[in-house]
Amino acid sequence: MAAIPKLNVHVLVIAIFMFISLMASVQRVIWSAMMMPWDNDDGHPRRVDMDSKPWSTIVNDDDIDDYTTASLRDAANQPFIQNKIRGGRDYVTKKANNHLLKKLRTALTTADHANIHHHHPHRAATDPVSPTNIYILGERNSGTNYAASILKKAFIPPNDMDPSRLHEAFSSDIPILRHKHMFRHSLLNETELNEISGRTDILWILVVRRPCDWAEAMKRLPWHMCNTTNISSDCPGTKLVGFEHSKTLMKYSFAEFMELEWGDWPESSNFRNLSFVSKDFIYRNVFELRRHKLQLMKQIVDMVPRNVKIVRLHELELSPELMIQNLITEFNLTRLLRKNYRPQQPSAKQHREKCLSDEEWEIAQREIDWEMEANFGYTFLDCHRCYEEQ
Ligand SMILES: *[C@@H]1O[C@H](CO)[C@@H](O)[C@H](O)[C@H]1NC(C)=O
Ligand SMILES: *[C@@H]1O[C@H](CO)[C@@H](O)[C@H](O)[C@H]1NC(C)=O
Ligand SMILES: *[C@@H]1O[C@H](CO)[C@@H](O)[C@H](O)[C@H]1NC(C)=O
Ligand SMILES: *[C@@H]1O[C@H](CO)[C@@H](O)[C@H](O)[C@H]1NC(C)=O
Ligand SMILES: *[C@@H]1O[C@H](CO)[C@@H](O)[C@H](O)[C@H]1NC(C)=O
Repeated sequence: MAAIPKLNVHVLVIAIFMFISLMASVQRVIWSAMMMPWDNDDGHPRRVDMDSKPWSTIVNDDDIDDYTTASLRDAANQPFIQNKIRGGRDYVTKKANNHLLKKLRTALTTADHANIHHHHPHRAATDPVSPTNIYILGERNSGTNYAASILKKAFIPPNDMDPSRLHEAFSSDIPILRHKHMFRHSLLNETELNEISGRTDILWILVVRRPCDWAEAMKRLPWHMCNTTNISSDCPGTKLVGFEHSKTLMKYSFAEFMELEWGDWPESSNFRNLSFVSKDFIYRNVFELRRHKLQLMKQIVDMVPRNVKIVRLHELELSPELMIQNLITEFNLTRLLRKNYRPQQPSAKQHREKCLSDEEWEIAQREIDWEMEANFGYTFLDCHRCYEEQ
């Protein structure tokens, strides 16, 4: 009879010892995760380096919407905050207010627990959570910088890496799509599309511009163009290229340009290793290049049609505020809206529409894939022919 209580004491002592060491290691892991600055694998400066705000002020500040947040529990229910806490090592500095962090973690754990027990399998189909991240994609000379500046005034960019690189403020955290031009020379494969389809937290802003206006801009501002006569020496490694060709391109008429081969600098592989492109690529002409880029965007549209907003530059310039208000309504983005947001004015620069000579117009009509364009709201009437003096 005496042996049993003795055994229990041993078991109890061992159990307590194991519990204490377990808690100690759990705590070590949590604390090291909290203290470790996020090491960005593409060489971007870390966010903590950029603004050196303590995590707590970041979460306190613009991130939490004043109108909808009454308590920490409310804050922890906001997917935007949840993402920050779950993946949030990058927001934690040594100066973090750990008291607040602990409270938020606790609230979040409670919320997770509640979700596990009350999850209804069909709920997602009828009651989807609105997106909490905004990413921009679009081709060069389509107004992606402008769209980013408009969005930035209204919403917090998910990855505001460097204030001087505004154009990356709404770049994706999906490795293959990291840069807003994302563009690589193969289509997205099944694995990648699966990843995208799972990301219903993302609102994709796809920025496009009328095809002929866009082509004309590509002639004046040939971002990342390589001379195809010797593409490997013209577009070496990590050099930013394109505008070197502006002068040469002035010697070509617009009609000639529209039929000129376009050698594309693999921007996304060379430009700070943003993607997995390995070779240069030659397109039959600038419109074939465009078609390819639209096709990549169409793949995203097909995967997550509900989470896509197509933004046409000429409409955006007329009324950026209308886009913001439409986004807020359609995607229920009130909680992402900055405090003190002020309605925005029309763009100071309004691009005019080009009209084309008969020759230019015929080439454009022949080379543009209007079926693809239709997915983005354009028809053959978006390339205009000029009337000439009699
Ligand atoms: C798709 O591409 C990724 C690289 O982005 C690669 O890791 C993956 O294995 C590919 N999947 C398929 C099904 O080819
Ligand atoms: C490419 O190089 C060839 C040969 O030097 C030249 O004739 C042509 O004009 C160049 N094209 C462009 C777009 O720079
Ligand atoms: C193309 O560039 C490479 C590397 O600079 C050079 O070795 C080669 O001779 C060039 N070829 C032509 C046809 O200019
Ligand atoms: C890109 O990555 C490769 C291998 O990971 C590295 O050797 C190269 O220096 C990187 N380039 C840039 C521009 O960061
Ligand atoms: C919009 O989001 C708020 C939280 O910000 C939520 O309370 C509300 O129910 C949502 N509205 C719709 C129509 O989903």
